[in-house]
Amino acid sequence: MKGTPLTEQTYNYIVENFAVEEAMLLQLMQKRAEEAGIPMIMISEEQAKFLGFFLKAIRAKRVLDIGTLFGYSAAIMAKAIGTDGEVVTLEFEPLHANAARANFKHLGLQNISLLQGPAIDHMKTMKDGIFDFIMIDADKPNYSLYLKESLRLIKDGGVIAGDNALAWGKIANMHLPVYDPDYVSATAMQQFNREFAADKSMFSCIVPVGDGLAMGYVKKS
Ligand SMILES: C[S@@+](CC[C@H](N)C(=O)[O-])C[C@H]1O[C@@H](n2cnc3c(N)ncnc32)[C@H](O)[C@@H]1O
Repeated sequence: MKGTPLTEQTYNYIVENFAVEEAMLLQLMQKRAEEAGIPMIMISEEQAKFLGFFLKAIRAKRVLDIGTLFGYSAAIMAKAIGTDGEVVTLEFEPLHANAARANFKHLGLQNISLLQGPAIDHMKTMKDGIFDFIMIDADKPNYSLYLKESLRLIKDGGVIAGDNALAWGKIANMHLPVYDPDYVSATAMQQFNREFAADKSMFSCIVPVGDGLAMGYVKKS
């Protein structure tokens, strides 16, 4: 085994020492979502802290968040970029979008615009090179499509990230049986990672936070 496996004890240590605010924010936001029956498939608390840290470090101001759910990743990123920045978040499910809107209102977050409907339709209407950071975290079979469109929407020097790059621990299993409940999503992530790693316009890596973030620094010139 290379590196240190993340046990529950180590995970709790990281959150208790480095992601206290992120954990509190999640507790607050997920309450409304749980009551509405929304699945708990958001990014993890330590991943949230990493995202906030990263956006501050690159001084991101315009962020695209593909897949809102109840708004946790959008809220984390909106807080990190400050009130002079903007997060545009895309969500297909009205139930999720409504919960997210209520959460943003409750938290007083005014620098988030939520666009409802299929993410790809909204992306296609946006101008080239307008985002510093793009987070892909929606339906896995469309990740390749989101990557293609993100490469157009990202600024020169911006970063594209794809969540679930480790596919719930199944990413390296090339013989996943079709009856596996994650078969469709995991094989889509294998395809996405392949394209991500091969793309010559990006300097890319996988950061093993949460379920893994594929990250690519885009150089257009
Ligand atoms: C994993 S969740 C997003 C979690 C969120 N990024 C967070 O960490 O707080 C994926 C979301 O993408 C939404 N979604 C799925 N397909 C979509 C599509 N075609 N267009 C827009 N949103 C979609 C789902 O309804 C779900 O709310």
